[in-house]
Amino acid sequence: MDACGKQRAYEGCDACARTRSGVLWNEAWTDPTFALTGETGKIGPDGREGYHGVRNALETSILMRMSVATRRLKWAGKFLRHGRNIASLTPSSRWLSRAMCRDIDASKPQTIVELGAGVGPVTAMISKLMHPQSRFLSIELDPDLHELAQERCPEVDIQLGSADQLDEFLDDRGIDKIDCFLSCLPVPSLPKTVNSALFECWKRRCSSGVFTQITQIPWYYRRMYRRVFDTVEFKLVPMNFLPAGVYHCSQLRADFEADDRLPGH
Ligand SMILES: C[S@@+](CC[C@H](N)C(=O)[O-])C[C@H]1O[C@@H](n2cnc3c(N)ncnc32)[C@H](O)[C@@H]1O
Repeated sequence: MDACGKQRAYEGCDACARTRSGVLWNEAWTDPTFALTGETGKIGPDGREGYHGVRNALETSILMRMSVATRRLKWAGKFLRHGRNIASLTPSSRWLSRAMCRDIDASKPQTIVELGAGVGPVTAMISKLMHPQSRFLSIELDPDLHELAQERCPEVDIQLGSADQLDEFLDDRGIDKIDCFLSCLPVPSLPKTVNSALFECWKRRCSSGVFTQITQIPWYYRRMYRRVFDTVEFKLVPMNFLPAGVYHCSQLRADFEADDRLPGH
């Protein structure tokens, strides 16, 4: 039963404008789960009721699935050609993306940076969870992946370029400090010059915060991040195609640029 007391969602409720599952009517047309539960039934985008509304939702669902399939195919091709730069067999799952967003706070505006958007799973999650007045800049190096991420998240400022240009991109936008610094980069496979620029930028703009780093190989790089940061916490995410996780690092070591500390080649 709905919060408003209706037995079935398709009876409709203009007072609360919500279905039994608490989703707004107009969201129902774009949410594929509603095609399966059949919980739509008000006037659809085509101005028709009931079954036609369900059919619209089914069509939307099929289109969404096709775009997911396109992203995955593109990703697989990139992984085969540039494995080291891509560093993951599939795009991050919604569980891994959510774990990356531990410090995104919907209750206050923040300045957020994401590095290595890929096809945009973490980007989409950040955009969904952040405060509407938050500033969010994402960066992706690969032009094809950048295009897919931008298509998926048209509302996000996704810069095509390399993470070591981060300072320049932030200056262009008049951004000084960063509250949330999320890296999806393959840090161990990057040149040392890129990693050095990355940690330097974090030190200047986010030192009281956390360096949040995705990983596809749980625990494996913990010692590597411990050589760079004093404090390193690890959160395992078992619900991913392959179990993955997130490092939450803070307190950059003074000598992080020493040859035996800085990761990369
Ligand atoms: C492990 S994938 C993560 C992608 C996506 N965020 C996800 O979670 O599915 C790493 C991404 O970093 C990008 N990348 C690699 N080197 C980069 C660099 N120097 N600057 C920006 N992005 C880079 C790759 O193109 C790839 O999309």
